[in-house]
Amino acid sequence: MREAQTIRMLLLSWVLFFFSFSYSNQNLLSFHSSADYSFVQAQEEGGGKAVKEAKEEKTVQSSSVEERPYDKIDPEFRNLGPGFGGKNTIPFVIALVVFLLAMGGVIKGKSKAVKTAAGVFALASLGVIAYITYWEARALGRQQGYAPVQPIWFSHKVHVTQNKIDCEYCHVDVRESRHAGIPSLNVCLNCHSVVKKGKISGDKEISKIYAYLGYNPSTQQFDKPGKPIEWIKVHNLPDHVYFNHAQHVQAGKVACQECHGPVEKMNRVVEYKELSMKFCLDCHRKREIITDNQYYALYKFHLNPGEKPKVKDIGGQDCSSCHY
Ligand code: HEC
Ligand code: HEC
Ligand code: HEC
Ligand code: HEC
Ligand code: HEC
Repeated sequence: MREAQTIRMLLLSWVLFFFSFSYSNQNLLSFHSSADYSFVQAQEEGGGKAVKEAKEEKTVQSSSVEERPYDKIDPEFRNLGPGFGGKNTIPFVIALVVFLLAMGGVIKGKSKAVKTAAGVFALASLGVIAYITYWEARALGRQQGYAPVQPIWFSHKVHVTQNKIDCEYCHVDVRESRHAGIPSLNVCLNCHSVVKKGKISGDKEISKIYAYLGYNPSTQQFDKPGKPIEWIKVHNLPDHVYFNHAQHVQAGKVACQECHGPVEKMNRVVEYKELSMKFCLDCHRKREIITDNQYYALYKFHLNPGEKPKVKDIGGQDCSSCHY
């Protein structure tokens, strides 16, 4: 029965592996709420009172989350990322069951043929398990599927799809600057000084805009002290990577959706793509640059007729373009 014991140990270690990866992923993902940060900060500052206040803020935040029945990650964007409950869970469980049954066949099989067939299944399922483990490990530190709860329930679906507002009405800097930028609440007021109720959330969320700004919608005066809103950043590249929106959106004419997915369908913004180095390079290796702008006037002059340079030909594959 030595074999059976070994197999049990092997199985147990895979299960432990999977759960520990899942757990650490989930932890990384949930660490980013601002209330969590203020708690850590308060602890660092050492004030007992500050810690208590931060803890209270945390409970206020989490209870206000429960009061928002409409603030859910849309079904089609759940389970995008890794971790337990993520997209790998079901394949992993199936592979584990197949492995279990196949190992049973290997040990208890009546004939050599049965044993061989079971052995093949066992190896194949072990391959799948190893592959998933590899992907789970790779995803550590990345945030695909990350979708924090925001201080105001802001729905891109309501604004972009239902009310046809252009992305660049709000993300104004996206063509000129490295950052797309998040609109200030004054931009919201352009419409919400008039639109005071939503079909889904009533006046509950829109009134938060007024509260943050210290604005009184009935007198149209800023008569109370306001406070800055703390949107939680969803997409975060590591600090050692340089990324510039202007170059992609303006010069490269890359659509927002190629990197952010169908944001216009999201009630709550989710990081849709993996945003790994492979993700960047896969595009740079295939994508042709658009040379009909001033910058490429001279460059175009040096090209052979019919030559179509790709991003990699202008340095899109050089380490120092993205890391310096
Ligand atoms: C009416 C204003 C408005 C419009 C229009 C709008 N956005 Fe946004 N967007 C916001 C606000 C406010 C946030 C921050 C809150 C959040 O993350 O939900 C945001 C967040 C985002 C984020 C996440 C930023 C992060 O923290 O990483 C992305 C990506 C984004 N928008 C893309 C788009 C795209 C693509 C479009 C067009 C299809 C668009 N937005 C249209 C206001 C707008
Ligand atoms: C080539 C990929 C790519 C395209 C195209 C792209 N983005 Fe982004 N976007 C990113 C990455 C990567 C980040 C994270 C940047 C960081 O952490 O430094 C980001 C961050 C953001 C943010 C958060 C604030 C910021 O600037 O860091 C917003 C908002 C946003 N994008 C909106 C847009 C909109 C709107 C468009 C289309 C007009 C767009 N993006 C097109 C890759 C892209
Ligand atoms: C260009 C006009 C415009 C801008 C700018 C705008 N909104 Fe809206 N917003 C609307 C319209 C129109 C509705 C739809 C009301 C409805 O019928 O539900 C709406 C609805 C809402 C709702 C309620 C959604 C619901 O159905 O319950 C919230 C919350 C909201 N907006 C927040 C914001 C925030 C926060 C900003 C600034 C980042 C903003 N809006 C900017 C036009 C705008
Ligand atoms: C969907 C395609 C696409 C994706 C994905 C993409 N890029 Fe690009 N990238 C482009 C295009 C197109 C250009 C060339 C724009 C131009 O004409 O200058 C470019 C240019 C660049 C450049 C300048 C290269 C140089 O030497 O001039 C950098 C840096 C860059 N991208 C970084 C990134 C990073 C970092 C990511 C991943 C987060 C990324 N890109 C993802 C399409 C993409
Ligand atoms: C188009 C942009 C781009 C280019 C070119 C590029 N990288 Fe990266 N690199 C990235 C991004 C984005 C990440 C962050 C990936 C993540 O968060 O997992 C990264 C991460 C890394 C890391 C950290 C390990 C990891 O996977 O997170 C190393 C090391 C690295 N790159 C080395 C290089 C080397 C060496 C080259 C040249 C052969 C290079 N990179 C070229 C975009 C690029």
